[in-house]
Formats: sequence, structure tokens, C-alpha cells
Amino acid sequence: MRVAVIGTGYVGLVSGTCFSDFGHVVTCVDKDAAKIGRLQRGEIPLFEPGLEQLVVRNIAAARLFFTTELGSAVRSADVVLIAVGTPSRRGDGFADLSFVMDAARAIAGELQGHAIIVTKSTVPVGTGDQVEDLIRALRPDGSFAVVSNPEFLREGAAIEDFKRPDRVVVGTDDERARRVMRELYRPLFINETPILFTSRRTAEIIKYASNAFLATKITFINEMADLCEKVGADVQDVARGMGLDRRIGGKFLHAGPGYGGSCLPKDAAALVAIAAQHGAQTRIVETVIGANKARRLAIADKIVAACAGSVDGKTLAVLGLTFKPNTDDMREAPSLDVVPALEAKGAKVRAYDPAGMEEARKLIPGLATAPDPYACMEGADALIILTEWDQFRALDLPRVKKALRSPLLIDLRNIYKPAEMAAEGIRYVSVGRP
Ligand SMILES: NC(=O)c1ccc[n+]([C@@H]2O[C@H](COP(=O)([O-])OP(=O)(O)OC[C@H]3O[C@@H](n4cnc5c(N)ncnc54)[C@H](O)[C@@H]3O)[C@@H](O)[C@H]2O)c1
Repeated sequence: MRVAVIGTGYVGLVSGTCFSDFGHVVTCVDKDAAKIGRLQRGEIPLFEPGLEQLVVRNIAAARLFFTTELGSAVRSADVVLIAVGTPSRRGDGFADLSFVMDAARAIAGELQGHAIIVTKSTVPVGTGDQVEDLIRALRPDGSFAVVSNPEFLREGAAIEDFKRPDRVVVGTDDERARRVMRELYRPLFINETPILFTSRRTAEIIKYASNAFLATKITFINEMADLCEKVGADVQDVARGMGLDRRIGGKFLHAGPGYGGSCLPKDAAALVAIAAQHGAQTRIVETVIGANKARRLAIADKIVAACAGSVDGKTLAVLGLTFKPNTDDMREAPSLDVVPALEAKGAKVRAYDPAGMEEARKLIPGLATAPDPYACMEGADALIILTEWDQFRALDLPRVKKALRSPLLIDLRNIYKPAEMAAEGIRYVSVGRP
């Protein structure tokens, strides 16, 4: 099967590469010529574990191609996936659909034969209808179907998630499109991955409902962490005790500095905006959004409190800037609120991140960075773990103690145990634990 993927970001590049690894012939298209140039040379423009190897292997097998020429890719494709960005529209929380509509317009101009056009981007309910209407208006002669196939992969574990997903959701009423989508996902179908066929609108809602629910779970456990701190209980044990109940499940019950990233914040906001547009209530999600915003600032206050009530003139070493480990994605990372809030209170922040520093320097002007964790903490008044990269999980604690001016570790991801810090003589502040 010949596949064209429009948009070669985290989702487009991973999906396109994995589909080629399944045996399909895939052409990934992007309007960013520099990105395509790098990919043609086998260089990966983003940080995603395992991706480079897979890209190189499939380029060598002549199953994976990269181009800025949308026309040739679309004309020869059985399936065209739209995987462009749908960022939050400034001001109103709605998803900005301009990239999706531009892609649809460009696809319309190139349609030949029968085409299955698939929106993989996260789009508001009704977008599939709009894409169909747009293409139909431009190409009344065209033979095509528009399918919703939302993507659920997580950055940092994207290949595993793509190749072994919990489910694949396909929204279409068109029988031929269903057949083609089943064929596209054949290796997963054979693996008994549930493939859920729904209406197009239902598929669009499933994606937003899933992300809003995950944001809710995180926000819920963060509130429980605050309560645990007040009453001397341990939120890790609370999460374990809740998560063992299969009706609840243990995933996404990790207390921390609040959710971030390229999906949960914008998708929660978009769901609220969509619901308001249709006159439906989303009180829970609205509360979650507000609570998460407040949490990021409360985390800065927590750090100040741990530093004896003031960070003015103090040097704070921050480990981890990306919104989660194993990605270079800085979109909506908690660090973007926490670091400036600390600087506003007079702190001198020095940071280290294994993959996100280049992007972070653009987003936090003047940010001081260090080449490794120990250089970062040298002479600092406190060490703050903001993102739980693996390499921060086994720090040399005597070295940490020696490097810091005062031995204070503020662990916002609960990756250490209070007892081991006490044994090491390091003052330890974590989230929701006595
Ligand atoms: N990042 C994730 O973890 C994730 C997970 C699930 C779903 N999603 C959704 O997938 C979509 C894509 O997300 P992403 O993180 O991959 O975005 P991204 O910003 O990393 O990449 C989008 C790419 O599309 C390209 N592009 C935009 N318009 C184009 C056009 N007309 N023609 C060709 N290329 C074009 C851009 O140059 C960019 O390279 C979004 O809707 C997002 O919500 C993302």
C-alpha cells in the first residue's frame, strides 16, 4: 500500500516511519524544507528514542521517502494522512485548524483516482465534515472518503505506542475506507490490537475525551498530594492503593508539578471551547485547567518555602526542563512557568536538561545552562528535580551534597526516597510525602 503523510513532526514522522516498517511504501511530506533536507540525509530533527534507527532502516529498504513536494506524494497514494499541528488558537482555546485546512486544500488539488484522506491530527468534532466539504467544493469530480484516525502515541515512547497501541480508533461510515484502514493497520490487526470502528464524529470526540480524562487524573492526584502534605500521609502509597483497583488503574496517578506538553493543555482547552460552542457543560475539565495553571505557580511557592521563605539572590539548580523525559519537546512544559516565577522572586536559575536546553533557551530568554547535572548544581543553594530523566534517578549523592552550598534537594517527581536522603544528610522536600 502507498501512503502519504502530510506533516513530519512527532506524529507524522513516527507514524510514517512505523507504517513503512510495517511494509507500506510511505512518503512523508513537510513544508519545512530544512527538516526534509535533514531527514533525507537520515538525520532526525527531533528527539525520540529508537526513531533514528528505524528511519535509517526503512530509507535503506526504499520504503520511506521524504519530500516537500506534496503533489507527487498524494497522486500516487492509496491513503493520505494529515498529521499537521493543531495548536491552541490565541485567546479562545479553540484548535487552530489553519494547517489542517491548508493541507486539505493542497490535497484536493492533487487527487487522482480514489483516495482515503485520514485526519491523524487532533481535531474538533465536525472537522472531518469540514475537510470533506472543502475538498468536495474544490473537486466536485473527486472520488474520496475522509476518515478520522486520532493518534494516541506518547512522546518518549512513541514507537512502542505506535506499534503496540492499546487501541486504534477509526471513524468512518464508508465501507471501502474501513477496508483500506484495516489493511493499513494489518500488522496490528494480526496482533489482536482492538480496532474500534466508529462514526467520524465519535472518533474525533474519543481523542479529546481521552486527553481531558488523563489531565483530570493527573490533576486529581496532585490535589491528593496537597492534602497528604497537610495531614502527613504519603501520596505515593495513596496512588498505589487507588491504582490497584482495576476500575481506577495506576497510570497517570503520579503527583508532580502539573501536566504540560504539546497535547493535554491544548486539548483540554479545545474540548471546553467545543462544548461551549455546542451549549454543553464541561465543568470538570474547566476546573482541571484552572487547577493545573494554579499548581504550576504554587510549585514555585513550594520551592520558595523550602528555601526558608526566600530565593532572593540564591542560586537554584534545575534538573530537567522538558515537559517529560525522553523528549526535546518544551511545549507547555511546567519549567516555562516555574523558572520565570523563581527568577521573578530574585533567584538565579541554572539549568540542565539532556535534550531540551536549545529549545528552552529560546523560550526562557537569558536562561543560564550547564553542560551536565553536577556542573549545574555546583555551589547552588538548592537542587530542584523538575523532570524525571533516567540519568537523574541515580545521582551520586555524596557528590551532590559536596557540590551544593547547602544540601537541599527539592524533588518534584518523587524519584528519591526520604529515608535515603536522611541517611545522606541531605534535606529533602518532595511532593505529597511526609
Ligand atoms: N506530539 C504528540 O505527542 C501527539 C500525540 C498525539 C496526537 N498529536 C496530534 O498530532 C498533530 C501533530 O502534532 P505534532 O506534535 O506531530 O506536531 P508538530 O508541530 O511536531 O509537527 C507538525 C508538522 O506539520 C508541518 N506542516 C504544517 N502544515 C503543513 C502543510 N500544509 N504541509 C506540509 N507540512 C505541514 C510542520 O512544518 C511540522 O513539521 C496535532 O494535532 C497533535 O495534537 C500529537
